[in-house]
Amino acid sequence: MIHQALKRLEYRGYDSVGEVTVEGSRLFVKKDSGRLEEVHQKYNLDDLPGSTGVGHTRWATHGRPVQENAHPQVDCHSRIAVVHNGIIENYVDFKRDLEAKGHKFFSRTDTEIVPHQVEEYVKQGMSLEEAFRKTLSQLEGAYSLVLLSSLVPRTIICARQESPLVLGIGQGESYCASDISAFLPLTKRAVVLEEGEMAILNPSGIKILKTRDAEPVNRDPISITWSVESATKEGFRHFMLKEVHEQVQTIKDAMRTHQIYYDLMAGKLAEAKRIFVAACGTSYHAGLVGSFALSRLAGLDARVVIASELSEEVLDLVDKNTAILAVSQSGETMDTLNAVRDSKAKGASILSITNVMGSTLMRLSDVYIGQNCGPEIGVAGTKTFTSQVAVLLRLAAALAKNKGREKEQRAREVVDALYRTPEIIQDILHTKEEVVRRIALSIIGAPSICFLGRGVSVATALEGRLKLLELSYVPAIAYPAGESKHGFISVIEEGFPVVFVAPKDETHKKVIGNIMEMKARGARIISLIQEGDDEVRSLSDDVVEIPGGKLPSLVSPIAYTVPLQLLAYYLSVGKGHDPDYPRNLAKSVTVE
Ligand code: M6R
Repeated sequence: MIHQALKRLEYRGYDSVGEVTVEGSRLFVKKDSGRLEEVHQKYNLDDLPGSTGVGHTRWATHGRPVQENAHPQVDCHSRIAVVHNGIIENYVDFKRDLEAKGHKFFSRTDTEIVPHQVEEYVKQGMSLEEAFRKTLSQLEGAYSLVLLSSLVPRTIICARQESPLVLGIGQGESYCASDISAFLPLTKRAVVLEEGEMAILNPSGIKILKTRDAEPVNRDPISITWSVESATKEGFRHFMLKEVHEQVQTIKDAMRTHQIYYDLMAGKLAEAKRIFVAACGTSYHAGLVGSFALSRLAGLDARVVIASELSEEVLDLVDKNTAILAVSQSGETMDTLNAVRDSKAKGASILSITNVMGSTLMRLSDVYIGQNCGPEIGVAGTKTFTSQVAVLLRLAAALAKNKGREKEQRAREVVDALYRTPEIIQDILHTKEEVVRRIALSIIGAPSICFLGRGVSVATALEGRLKLLELSYVPAIAYPAGESKHGFISVIEEGFPVVFVAPKDETHKKVIGNIMEMKARGARIISLIQEGDDEVRSLSDDVVEIPGGKLPSLVSPIAYTVPLQLLAYYLSVGKGHDPDYPRNLAKSVTVE
């Protein structure tokens, strides 16, 4: 049953698999790195004793995908097993403290502190439930946690904070899972566990409590009518749309990486005499934002290079004093890996930002930072772009330290604004999706579309262009708005759609000039503006207003890219294409 349920959850993460059951006074664990069927071939996951068990597929955040890091994680005596989705931000402090008390750790995961801390509290005389609750009250970060123990067999305890967890009520059986699809063929009766709640499951039923004070919660089950397929998309028509919506959470998750990793990477960048940012496609656009940020916040000259061009363009300049900052969500893009390998051979230090722990890029790197986004199924990069930008901005902010009061202040403003972006994205998704859908349908017959911006918004314009052309197959153009009058403007004729990325930042006045130039030639102006920007609104045929007030320009690509993702999505769907699997493209381009 668990094996089949994991199959339905594999799209959420698949670098390692584990199962644990309890029978008598023993836990039985099978786990390893690899995809579900590979691990099953090796260990036969269906052969575990008992009638209470937990399974997990992992997408690594802390610790590479190797056997010891797979879940479940257990305590010193293998009596308490825990699986976890999310990130425990303060695990370093717990680990230090528990090691001082004699606990032995076997993994590099943040998760492992949970069974050990629960063990510690049980040792002090608490019940398993109390010990778990007390541990939860000290955790910072995001989690859905499920605990199974030989101390109280036939019981599962689970809890959630910011990561999803749903309970299922069967006939003489109870289930919990990170999404409904896991148990949908077994029961249609479900209870959603809310933030800050925990639940105790046994075959005869489910008890829900508030984690904070153990106050009981009564919640009626709901009847689920979704198919397994629509449940994996959480009701969204496509994975891409689901992933666009997930950005509210993934930005938060990208921000959870401990400051020590940023300081480590910042130290390497500060030591380097030359910095090249190497990436392809969407990751290249994130890299562009990163290079703006490194120069503005830290006074560093970091040149962004398209990875497939690095060896031709700058390899002669690469030496042991060079740092290559490679950005790749998959960590397997051949062009990026080649640029990294060529540079490594010349002695450069390799730093990377990637969404896939255990990827080739991660293994080639001296220091890496994970994006913590979970798997992205849609071929178009969406949530991975905004999280790359968030990580790069935090990195640049870490480098602003000791760079003078002005830079430090700017860096603080950037980091503060970063923490506001999830709410802004939420607002855009609630209030602007229909506006963007209508704009998309109104330009569905356009033979070409242009995206313009200035400053860091050039990166946003480039990203909007890439999304649109790869999903709708409409040839699209993106330019620095100021450059458009040096040639491109001759293309403009009556009704040509030009999308301006026009936040109210230091480029605003000049962008208005560029809008006027385009308007005077008959272009149809579609502008992304800060809410209440009447000046640009009055010059535009359509506007999408970005809520949240004034954002530091470096942060604006995170918010202003979201409507452009939606524009590409609705244009693609409107044309009858499949935005999840655009023609001729692969999610990870592993050829030169
Ligand atoms: O996995 P990577 O970030 O290295 O991938 C780079 C590009 O192949 C990727 O961003 C591609 O351009 C996407 N289809 C963009 O949506």
